[in-house]
Amino acid sequence: MYTDKVMDYFQHPRNVGALENPDAVGVAGNPKCGDIMQITLRVEGNIITDVGFKTFGCGAAIATSSMATEMIKGRTVEEAFTLTNEQVAHALGGLPVHKMHCSVLAEQAIKAAIGDYYVRQGILDLSEVKVYDAPEEAVPEE
Ligand code: FES
Repeated sequence: MYTDKVMDYFQHPRNVGALENPDAVGVAGNPKCGDIMQITLRVEGNIITDVGFKTFGCGAAIATSSMATEMIKGRTVEEAFTLTNEQVAHALGGLPVHKMHCSVLAEQAIKAAIGDYYVRQGILDLSEVKVYDAPEEAVPEE
């Protein structure tokens, strides 16, 4: 059902945790299953130099979250914003069709974090940033 790569990223997730004093924080939730992901970014000179994630979710959500963090590390903020859930799933060798929705969490959390980054930089106003369906209180503690 799952590729070896999905199983590897699920069982040995990379970049787990929350960065201290991050430059951006993003949260996204799946209102249907209740799963949720938080992502924290370190940005230096418009390059994402470090990423951390915490995901309360299924194996596919954890694997795609982890892969997504690897795919945006070292990229510009603008490049990271263009990452799609299809690209993340492809990098894992694919996902079962009925689990593709799980990969959306990572894409949305990254976009939310970049929105937060732009607000902190004074580039966007909070009212211009899309908020994904994710109650703050659902973010897991360390
Ligand atoms: Fe909720 Fe996978 S079942 S993200």
